[in-house]
Amino acid sequence: MSLKDKIMAKLENSSDYVSGQELAGEFGVSRAAVWKAVRQLKEDGCRIDSVSNRGYRLLSPADSIDDKAIRKALNESAQRLELCVLESVDSTNNEAKRMLANGFDGDALIVANEQTGGRGRLGRSFYSPKNTGIYMSFLLHADLKLSDAVSVTTAASVAVVKAIESVTGIAPEIKWVNDVYVGGRKVCGILTEAVSDFETGMARSVIIGIGINITTEDFPEEIKDKASSLGAQAPIRNDLIASVANELTAICTDLSDRSFIKCYREHSMIIGREIDFYINNVKHTGTAADIDDNGGLIVTLPDGSKTTLSSGEVTVRLAKASEE
Ligand code: BTN
Repeated sequence: MSLKDKIMAKLENSSDYVSGQELAGEFGVSRAAVWKAVRQLKEDGCRIDSVSNRGYRLLSPADSIDDKAIRKALNESAQRLELCVLESVDSTNNEAKRMLANGFDGDALIVANEQTGGRGRLGRSFYSPKNTGIYMSFLLHADLKLSDAVSVTTAASVAVVKAIESVTGIAPEIKWVNDVYVGGRKVCGILTEAVSDFETGMARSVIIGIGINITTEDFPEEIKDKASSLGAQAPIRNDLIASVANELTAICTDLSDRSFIKCYREHSMIIGREIDFYINNVKHTGTAADIDDNGGLIVTLPDGSKTTLSSGEVTVRLAKASEE
């Protein structure tokens, strides 16, 4: 057993702090070696509290992503997915595209513990450090009308909020189009990319990329005031991944059944509120009135007329608030 594993076992069996001196004495190593092993455990994703003069206390073990645990929690509709779990990848959406380019023609779920080039909407990046988030992409071959491909994004937001509710009990909200918020801060973003056939106007395949911050803390400067995490104390990543897959594949079984839109409306954080929206960088204002059955945002303009926003290129901001 490595020193790291011995220290982990000791901390798991101790309800109080264990001093570095005690650990060093018990395992016959220096205190520096203990400190190094604890640092490695933290890098592996264990949450360990270190207090000078008291020592170390395990807050929660590493939340490892495990393909067998995910597979076990998938229901019938999601079992057909090819499951691909990666330690590190540039972007799970890119990996899905590579699978397509290599001739893969089934439906798949790609999950990574870390993304080195995570992508967001509008050409932004998505912060994806190891051990602290869920970075997953569904590759679905559906032969969908392009309008239905947009509905898949709406369905994905609904799948995420339902999964977060059932696994953690937290009550998330959706900010149109498809950002998921908790306590006024973004905890999840969704990037949907369709591979379309221009001649038929159909989306041959859709890639739905979902990033959820679970315990991420040190966000980059430019998003640190807007982003947050679910802050889960116990390991939840495998259950949450499976739950999102179960919810999404169930909705996608029959996208013509629009009952998921009702759930989207119920979780909307902008209906009834004043918003600013930007089309091609030009600012407009209005009141978010409703979500239509295609997931479009119906806005009442200052002159009382209504317009429906449906483009993924539109940015919505709650008026007088600093978040996007
Ligand atoms: C956004 O907030 O603008 C969308 C973020 C989407 C992030 C997810 S993480 C998994 C998948 N792979 C990516 O590179 N992006 C998506």
